[in-house]
Amino acid sequence: MNADILRQEILRLKKEKNAVILGHYYQRDEIQELSDYVGDSLALAQKAQDCDNDIIVFCGVHFMAETAKILNPSRKVLLPDMEASCSLAESCPAEDFAKFKAEHPDHMVISYVNCSAGIKALSDLICTSGNAEKLVRSLPEDQKIIFAPDKNLGGYINSVTGRNMLLWNGVCTVHDAMQAEAVVGLKKDYPDAPVIAHPECNAALLAVADFIGSTKAMLNYIKASAAKRFIVATETGILYEMKRENPDKEFITLRDNKSCACDDCAYMKLNTLEKLHACLRDEKPEILLDAETIEKARRPIVRMLEMSKQLGILK
Ligand code: 13P
Ligand code: SF4
Repeated sequence: MNADILRQEILRLKKEKNAVILGHYYQRDEIQELSDYVGDSLALAQKAQDCDNDIIVFCGVHFMAETAKILNPSRKVLLPDMEASCSLAESCPAEDFAKFKAEHPDHMVISYVNCSAGIKALSDLICTSGNAEKLVRSLPEDQKIIFAPDKNLGGYINSVTGRNMLLWNGVCTVHDAMQAEAVVGLKKDYPDAPVIAHPECNAALLAVADFIGSTKAMLNYIKASAAKRFIVATETGILYEMKRENPDKEFITLRDNKSCACDDCAYMKLNTLEKLHACLRDEKPEILLDAETIEKARRPIVRMLEMSKQLGILK
């Protein structure tokens, strides 16, 4: 099937089956183009919770689709490719984490949403990169905290809040591989371009960034900035939305510094138009979770969404 027919078929099936397509900013351009909503993980979780379609097709990675199922269990949630995992989720097996947690019974557990449902079920509060700093700041200063699984995001939150959260030793292999040296090299070539980075990047890279934020926060920053070009330290899928919103601005990626070609998430790119079509047609692969996991994992996510509303992060 050629791409145009594939697109038409996806739209036809979507209507026929009363489905909605949620897409993350790191998805392939052609998937973002077809999605009903494109967003960061926080906005997409909220969309999934509020959605009354029979089917949610989640174009993102597994933990995102799982979060949609946990928040809206009566819907059928599909993920075009079940192999679309995440290195952060994989770095934190539930059994090991349960032992770590048991060693620190006086700590509350905050988990970054990039983790499995099993880890969410062991957590007191979930966060995303879009709300982590504000959520942590809202807690009593003497609250002891375990932060899992991203040591880069956790370390960054420690540095800006002055907290001393205990960090699980996980990383996003995509953002962690981005090198500060590559950014410094690009800054020499483009001295007028602010460096914007996702907080999953390593501390050395974050130290040379002008702005650090979630995918949505980076988009907001670019829109509001008077600068005409930007050095972007995050996954390249976001360039689609950056260019769409700012056709007059220029975006330089780390791959423009020849020493670095590390800015694609292989998991995110597993979803294709062909797989999106097949999953709508066959209504699989489907996210299935047992009722107990849903119940336990739901509490800290709902707590996050409620706190985000109270703190003015979400409407
Ligand atoms: P956002 O929450 O910023 O969308 O990030 C999700 C993610 O997986 C980043 O690598
Ligand atoms: Fe996971 Fe990193 Fe890919 Fe985001 S970019 S889904 S954190 S591996």
